[in-house]
Amino acid sequence: MGTGNEMVGASPSICAVFDLVRKMANTEMPVLITGETGTGKELTARAIHEQSSRKHGSFVPINCGAIPETLLESELFGHERGAFTGAVQQKKGKLEAAAGGTLFLDEVGDLLPTLQVKLLRFLQEGTFQRVGGQETLHVDARVLAATNVDLKTAIERNLFRQDLYYRLGVLHIHLPPLRDRGEDALLMAMVFLKQAAATYRKQIRSYTPQAVDVLRAYSWPGNVRELSNRVRRAVVMAEGMDITPHDLDLPVEKLQAVDLLDSLRAAHRRIEMELLVKAISLHRGNLTRMARDLEVSRSTLYRKLRAYGLEKFVPAATPLFFGPRPESKKSTTPSPQDNPGGMSCESSPGNLPLEPSHQFPESA
Ligand SMILES: Nc1ncnc2c1ncn2[C@@H]1O[C@H](COP(=O)(O)OP(=O)(O)OP(=O)(O)O)[C@@H](O)[C@H]1O
Ligand SMILES: [Mg+2]
Repeated sequence: MGTGNEMVGASPSICAVFDLVRKMANTEMPVLITGETGTGKELTARAIHEQSSRKHGSFVPINCGAIPETLLESELFGHERGAFTGAVQQKKGKLEAAAGGTLFLDEVGDLLPTLQVKLLRFLQEGTFQRVGGQETLHVDARVLAATNVDLKTAIERNLFRQDLYYRLGVLHIHLPPLRDRGEDALLMAMVFLKQAAATYRKQIRSYTPQAVDVLRAYSWPGNVRELSNRVRRAVVMAEGMDITPHDLDLPVEKLQAVDLLDSLRAAHRRIEMELLVKAISLHRGNLTRMARDLEVSRSTLYRKLRAYGLEKFVPAATPLFFGPRPESKKSTTPSPQDNPGGMSCESSPGNLPLEPSHQFPESA
């Protein structure tokens, strides 16, 4: 779900990823993206493409694990007429389709050794041959690759070439599992709820405080994909105005212990965010009542909601009532044009403010 390539997140670990994406987008080098299933590897690859100078070219994904071995070479590099039975005409492959743009090799660990050699040659020399072809062809395509298997183990077992690994992995982004992203699960749950409610035309406003507790405590083995699917399902199933733990249907045995020791800064952010989300649920986004319960002024509350990306859940709050939006401070906050991949973090992870910045999908 979602409107495209916007990545949601405000935790230090995902802000560090946004930083890497921004820096790596400006190079022509391959990037290896790793992470558990559903952590956003493809979304990250798309974000790199969209923030790069190749954004007007195509983003061409190919899943190396999902295509039968016999077809993969021709899918990737194309074939000449008569190259094999059934090759009645010449066909260009995904690599050529990515000319001027980006080729995304998903599940790159599944590439067979012969194709690993061909890919290595392309990465080193920019050249390749179609299946059954003699001609050496050049194409200007950037390669991004992803895997959720450990390539180092694959190298030890002689399943993956070490030289290819070094070529692909000079630039490396590891996506943290959702359970290590602190309050991001809640933030995403809010964003996905808004999107799903709009898609399915349901009058769902928020989560019950108990559902918020459940969302925070669950360990999310399927990461963002699981969260997105569960929220969508809950929106479809819900009969009330707020999503309950029952609607979320999370297996209770998978609830993780939440008594790990946080840094004071992380604990402050977590508790603040949790309280804000609970207040939104409890008071249906009524700013005055929320401010009264939390014992802060409406303007302070609004500023905090903005800092955590929650202001959209407070219908009555508009920036007109509370002074200029932070975007007006051009020096610290990039405009959407400066940040086409749809992600932002105001400062580096080493210097994070207590109030994180974030980017939201424009839907809903
Ligand atoms: N930071 C994020 N913000 C919003 N949505 C996200 C984010 N990360 C992932 N998603 C969404 O979660 C789903 C899974 O993301 P994606 O397909 O990129 O994961 P993946 O790591 O490639 O998964 P797999 O290993 O199973 O291929 C998609 O619907 C994607 O849009
Ligand atoms: Mg994927």
